[in-house]
Amino acid sequence: MKTYKHITVKPITGAMGAEVFDIDLSRDLDPAAWSEIEDAFHRFLVLIFRDQDLTDQQQYDFSARFGPIIPHPYVKGLPDIPEIFQIIREPGESYSWDSYYHSDLMFLERPPLGATLYAKEVPPYGADTAFTNMYLAYETLSDAMKDLLEGLDAENESGDPRKYSNRFQSMEELAKNDAMSATHPVVRVHPVTGRKALFSSLAFTKRFKGMTDKESAPLLEFLYDHSIQAHLGCRLAWQKHSLALWDNRVCLHHAVSDYFGEVAKHRRVMQRATIEGEAPLAARSSAQKAA
Ligand code: SIN
Repeated sequence: MKTYKHITVKPITGAMGAEVFDIDLSRDLDPAAWSEIEDAFHRFLVLIFRDQDLTDQQQYDFSARFGPIIPHPYVKGLPDIPEIFQIIREPGESYSWDSYYHSDLMFLERPPLGATLYAKEVPPYGADTAFTNMYLAYETLSDAMKDLLEGLDAENESGDPRKYSNRFQSMEELAKNDAMSATHPVVRVHPVTGRKALFSSLAFTKRFKGMTDKESAPLLEFLYDHSIQAHLGCRLAWQKHSLALWDNRVCLHHAVSDYFGEVAKHRRVMQRATIEGEAPLAARSSAQKAA
C-alpha cells in the first residue's frame, strides 16, 4: 500500500475510491502535495476530500488545476461563476437527477476529463453517489468480447435538454440549447495511464455505429449490467463540505435515490464544476489494426 506524505488517503473498496484527509484545498497547494493528489486521482479514480470549507471561487480554482471549467449545456450556473452549477433536490422531491450510472456529458465531442462535486447541503445520511470503475469493467470481460468491442464506436445522445431541469423546483434551464450527440469508441485509452476502459452507459449510449437501436440494445444492456456490478465500484457517503473529484473518462456514477423516510425530508444541494476533456482515444485491437 502506497503511503503519501502530504495527504492521508483511506481507500473505500478494493475496486476504487478513497477518502482524503489532512489537506486544505482552499490554500495554495505546494507541488509535492499536488503531485500526491494527482497520483491518488489516477490510482483511485474518485477521491472525496473531507472537511473542506470552500468558497465557489476556491472550488473553481482547485478544479481548474486539471483543465478549463466548462458550463453545463442545459443547466443555469451560479450568477457569478456560470460554469459552476447546482444540483438541487428540494425536500419531498423524489426524482434523482440521473436515472442511470453515467459518465457526464458523453454526448459532447470532447466529454469531460472529470468533475468536482461539493456538498453544500445534504441529508444526515443516505443520498450517496455510487461509482463504478470502467477499467475493471473492461478488464473483467472475456478476450473475445474485448476484441469485438474494440472494433466498435457508439452514438451517445443527450436526449431532451429540458429533462435536466424541468422536474426540479430549484433548477433552471440554461438556454434553449439543442439536443446533442457524439460518436465515441466503446473502448477508450486513458491518456495518462495508458489503460483501456469501457465507455458506454445506457444513460446516453443509444446504438453502435452502423447498427439499429434494436440490434444494439442486447449488448448495450449486457455492458451496462456488467459495468455496474457492486464489486467493481464504491459509494460515497456525503457529509456537508465534502468535495468529490472523479475521472469522468474511466468511471460511471449515479446519485442513489433512497429518498425515503428521513432522507426525503432534507434538501440536497450539490455544486459541480466540470473539467474539459479530450476526444476519447480509441483502443483498436492489434488484429483490427493489422487488417
Ligand atoms: C452528477 O451526476 O454529477 C451528480 C451526482 C449526484 O448528485 O450525486
